[in-house]
Amino acid sequence: MADTMRFSDGEGYEAMMGIWSALIGADFLDWLNVPGGARWADIGCGNGASTELIAERSRPTSVEAIDPSPAQLEFARSRHRSGVANFTLGSALQLPYPADAFEVAIMALVIFFVPDPAKGVAELRRVVRPGGTVAAYAWDIEGGGFPYEDVHVAMRNVGVDPILPPQSEVANLDALERLWTDAGLVEVATRTIVAQRVFPSFDNYWERAISAPGIGQPIAKLSAGQLSNIRDTVRGSHTSGELVYEGRAHAVRGRVATQS
Ligand SMILES: C[S@@+](CC[C@H](N)C(=O)[O-])C[C@H]1O[C@@H](n2cnc3c(N)ncnc32)[C@H](O)[C@@H]1O
Repeated sequence: MADTMRFSDGEGYEAMMGIWSALIGADFLDWLNVPGGARWADIGCGNGASTELIAERSRPTSVEAIDPSPAQLEFARSRHRSGVANFTLGSALQLPYPADAFEVAIMALVIFFVPDPAKGVAELRRVVRPGGTVAAYAWDIEGGGFPYEDVHVAMRNVGVDPILPPQSEVANLDALERLWTDAGLVEVATRTIVAQRVFPSFDNYWERAISAPGIGQPIAKLSAGQLSNIRDTVRGSHTSGELVYEGRAHAVRGRVATQS
């Protein structure tokens, strides 16, 4: 059976991915342009990176945050200060909320992990009231937008497959648009969001990259020689100083139709 990614270290996740999520998420939340005072659902909240961003930027009345990883939730609870969010163990496939409970529900870097993405979107739609917003963003994995893509390429060059999100193809723009439209959402729109992140050194970048489960899990099985081969390829001619990397995500939003 193919290996799957495990998210079990909230602090490590923050350095590896939470910072990236907040960089993309800032543009994403601006794009959603949800008025203050809304009730939010953050589905697949992980270590709380997306939850905290909503709390800081969107002036929510409340944020219900849910994730299947107890370790990630523990970190999310420990970092949360404002008291606006509530964290629950659970899955996107069966949300423990009544219909029409929120003005907006999002999945930040989650939809490609959900085993049945259409069911996940249907659940988002169910819990958002008519006129409310259902939205998501995910790395453009198939188009090379994952921020540690150069490590993926170097791994493949020596015959080692990175572990990808199981439903990577749903992060394509047309697939996201179709999912949202097929779910009966209206005013569906998509866009690409690009973010840049500065790493103080190559070593810092490399440590973050190999802590990604889809990279760290397969390379843990390699010999020291194979590993340094991949590292040297990624490092290339970079000797010292900071590096700027780019990540590219696809975002989608739609509204729950109001009854006519
Ligand atoms: C890349 S993290 C994103 C976390 C956070 N939203 C962020 O922006 O950083 C993906 C998260 O999806 C969660 N996840 C995986 N399967 C899920 C499911 N079926 N329902 C909800 N969340 C799920 C994982 O536990 C993980 O925390």
